[in-house]
Amino acid sequence: MAVVAVVGGQWGDEGKGKIVDLLAEHASIVARCGGGNNAGHTVINDKGHFSMHLVPSGIFDPQCTCIIGNGVVVDPAVLIEEIDSLTERGVDVSRLFISNRAHLIMPYHTLLDGLEEEARGARSIGTTRRGIGPAYSDKVARTGLRMADLIDEQVFAAKLAVALDQKNRLITLVYGAPPLSFEEMRDQYFAFGKRLKPHVVDTVPMLHAALSEGKNILLEGAQGALLDPDFGTYPYVTSSAPISSGCCGGVGLGPTRIDRAIGVYKAYTTRVGAGPFPTELKDETGSLIRERGQEFGTTTGRPRRCGWFDAVLARYAAQINGLDSIALTRLDILDSLPTLKICTAYRWGNGIVETLPASMDDFGCCEPVYEEMPGWQSSTAGIRRFEDLPPAAQRYALRLAELVGARLSIVSLGAAREQTIILQNPFEA
Ligand code: IMO
Ligand code: MG
Repeated sequence: MAVVAVVGGQWGDEGKGKIVDLLAEHASIVARCGGGNNAGHTVINDKGHFSMHLVPSGIFDPQCTCIIGNGVVVDPAVLIEEIDSLTERGVDVSRLFISNRAHLIMPYHTLLDGLEEEARGARSIGTTRRGIGPAYSDKVARTGLRMADLIDEQVFAAKLAVALDQKNRLITLVYGAPPLSFEEMRDQYFAFGKRLKPHVVDTVPMLHAALSEGKNILLEGAQGALLDPDFGTYPYVTSSAPISSGCCGGVGLGPTRIDRAIGVYKAYTTRVGAGPFPTELKDETGSLIRERGQEFGTTTGRPRRCGWFDAVLARYAAQINGLDSIALTRLDILDSLPTLKICTAYRWGNGIVETLPASMDDFGCCEPVYEEMPGWQSSTAGIRRFEDLPPAAQRYALRLAELVGARLSIVSLGAAREQTIILQNPFEA
């Protein structure tokens, strides 16, 4: 029996969806712990190509119960669309459960996300404009609406009236935008409530029953450590805790119950949205990685900024997550490069820095110090054993794990399930 958390080690988009889909066959429950439809987890398996935003990537395993935990913010319109699209494609979603404590993303959250971004001007964060920040703000301000409210029409209408009254004042008086209609929103959300009701439960007892029955549980993190509001590149972060400790709070498990944490890292670095990125490549190599890796957002389609592997950030992410091992993805994207660079420290003024500065003004002044390694310049497609990888690729992967300070457990060489080398199964470790 084990509880394994899969978390992003960088700025998101590391390939968590693939790793979760791969490991789901060992788990009885796969639970999403945080974030909302800012996440875009790509899964490619025998059922097809899927972009998952809210439904856990364990849904493709018929034995697996899937949970959207209390820490997730749910846009019901997006969730229903995802459920319908999965159903149409032959995926059974009757095993999907949503925590009655999960907060709702409302139309005013999405609207305000955009208005706030516009108002920030040159200091905009580059959010996904899916209402994530405003929904989490309401959660901690104790004015949010939750799944439990959604399935009780009377309660929902009463709470919406109070919330919308306040939001409409903000929308009209501060931002000068037209108000949103109460009746329209109420009726739309009543319909969502009817649709989602069979899935809404208290998910805490479900998880604890599975624990006491000795079943394996997989916690699917969203986003990545550097987007954490406390430890990440604040304010260029998201609004929920994407680290392993956030996974505990996001589903209702104590930290003593998590047996292992796996960090998913790309063999290089990408980021969407604004903020400093010392190893960013604005040259041909950056474009090559973007094109070869198809580095365009799953959620927003935005081109991702690409750069060399930043081992300073990666090691820091491993520390704040308590990582046991790493899953290294997209190693194949580097197949053609003659030389690879790894950032091992930053030069800042006359000194050397080996961790992430708290201030982004300071971080923006950091210049990467690189270690270079020869590339392998041959195709890794179809390789299924670590020892069959070109020696330079083996050395690069092992060097990254060494710098990160965690064991290498999985190497991914493509989007499909079979394009994977498993050195150690985290459920058997
Ligand atoms: P997955 O789970 C990559 C980024 C946004 C933006 C910042 C804040 O697919 O790895 P938000 O909409 O959350 O308020 O935006 O966070 N961001 C992600 N980047 N992958 C994600 O999720 C992300 N979720 C949020 O681009 O910079
Ligand atoms: Mg993403």
